Amino acid sequence: MKHVVLVGFMASGKSTIARALARRLGVRSIDTDAEIEREHGPIAGIFAHEGEARFRAYERAAVSAALRQASPSVIAVGGGAFVQSATREMLRRDAVTVFLDVGEATLRRRLARSRTHRPMLRQTDGSDAFDALYRAREPLYREADLTIACDGMTQRETVDAICAGLDRVRALR
Ligand code: S3P
Repeated sequence: MKHVVLVGFMASGKSTIARALARRLGVRSIDTDAEIEREHGPIAGIFAHEGEARFRAYERAAVSAALRQASPSVIAVGGGAFVQSATREMLRRDAVTVFLDVGEATLRRRLARSRTHRPMLRQTDGSDAFDALYRAREPLYREADLTIACDGMTQRETVDAICAGLDRVRALR
């Protein structure tokens, strides 16, 4: 079995679904943002003191380390990982990638309620950072092997849909 990697926008549920899917499949789950924070400290601090480029380098390294694990895992990556071409190529080559497709309105609602600090959504000029990011990233997320439209689905339904999708993808290989 290849690693399964969940990609998608911030607040699409990647980390939560990764844990539930890993439990269902009986494998480990890895969260690359958590790995980055363990090694380099809080993400907000990395963005503030070292800049986005350095964060992306840490992210590339964390994704590469997760993919090198011998036993198959479910891996949740940050919302920008699949947007970076080098990281995306690595993921597409070495894993089955799954886009958690959650509608804009739901994402906005969750982000408004979320207490997680997300530097990519901070905009000093008053423009809508979410909108620009969403439009730029959505077509790239669609390059994943599987797209799961999970808006309005429960966690269990989402995991069911991913498992059915994985069976389909594997049958085609
Ligand atoms: C980012 C998403 C975040 C985190 C960092 C950058 C992005 O992860 O990796 O703040 O560029 O979309 P989540 O998708 O888990 O919020």
